[in-house]
Amino acid sequence: MNSKHQFVQLSDGHFIPGLGFGTYKPQEVPNSKTIEATKIAIEAGFRHIDCAYAYEVEEEVGLAIRSKIEDGTVKREDIFCTSKLWSTFLRPELVQSCLERSLKKLHLDYVDLYLIHFPVALKPGEELYPLDENGKIICDSVDLCATWEVMEKCKDAGLAKSIGVSNFNRRQLEMILNKPGLKYKPVCNQVECHVYHNQRKLLDFCKSKDIVLVAYGALGTQRYKECVDQNSPVLLDDPVLCALAKKRKRSPALIALRYQLQRGVVVLAQSLKENEIKENIQVFDFELTEEDMKVLDGLNRNFCYVAMQFMSDHPNYPFADEY
Ligand SMILES: NC(=O)c1ccc[n+]([C@@H]2O[C@H](COP(=O)([O-])OP(=O)(O)OC[C@H]3O[C@@H](n4cnc5c(N)ncnc54)[C@H](OP(=O)(O)O)[C@@H]3O)[C@@H](O)[C@H]2O)c1
Repeated sequence: MNSKHQFVQLSDGHFIPGLGFGTYKPQEVPNSKTIEATKIAIEAGFRHIDCAYAYEVEEEVGLAIRSKIEDGTVKREDIFCTSKLWSTFLRPELVQSCLERSLKKLHLDYVDLYLIHFPVALKPGEELYPLDENGKIICDSVDLCATWEVMEKCKDAGLAKSIGVSNFNRRQLEMILNKPGLKYKPVCNQVECHVYHNQRKLLDFCKSKDIVLVAYGALGTQRYKECVDQNSPVLLDDPVLCALAKKRKRSPALIALRYQLQRGVVVLAQSLKENEIKENIQVFDFELTEEDMKVLDGLNRNFCYVAMQFMSDHPNYPFADEY
């Protein structure tokens, strides 16, 4: 493993690299960009790659990983690869098939981490976002505890080293933790987390249960046109963040990433640009002071970029609760 990396131990004993490379990209960007960027990320020292069935780039991520294994840069065991169970596969009988599809596309025998992507179930089928004739999303009704039991079986079958969840609120985490006969608890909860939405309460709850919080959107998200209000504040332009960056002679992006590491959060960073990818790995090369951390804590405003409003009618919509 790259000695630069800071690792975090998961409750099942495995270790997750503190910084992960995000692979979500807009549809209009050619998939070939993902191959290039993922190779650059591995060359630069990234060892944790965050992927998902729904991102539709698993083949490209798999190609990049294979190419970096073939040229001797890394071994399979050096790479920590995450994928996620999409919402159209939450019915227990479909869970393993989604994971198997991902493994096939990634050309891997196992993923290091498999997550339930989102707690709202959607109508099963090939459409990622099934819509009715009025353009409204078609949801499904699934007992997430039953889904979780198959996640446990996937771990036992060796298809995933660790299992966890994403976008779960406290109530949903408690539901899994309190499930009668629970075999493995979720090792992590991957949620939107950045200086404008620092998830302090959810983080404290997760820490109390030995669940690692993994931050997505730590740089303010890609401001996806489909689901982010284009008038929302640009996180990396925040004057307080920029002033601190200037003081510490680092970029605002590095400060925003470092903030998460120092509060015990595993952080993801997406970019398709070589200079940014190479910059982001430098998050291990410096430290913020306690005072810096307080200044950054002060930026919190519980502001969510990706609210997934179109699923908000569903009883499992996670963002209606305080946290
Ligand atoms: N579980 C979930 O539901 C979920 C949801 C969303 C995302 N994710 C995961 O989390 C990952 C990260 O989140 P995200 O994709 O929304 O974006 P992000 O990591 O917050 O990054 C946002 C943008 O910051 C810019 N950036 C990156 N490095 C920079 C640097 N050094 N200097 C200046 N700008 C920089 C890039 O834009 P430019 O290239 O335009 O500069 C990038 O698109 C995703 O790729 C995905 O793997 C998970």
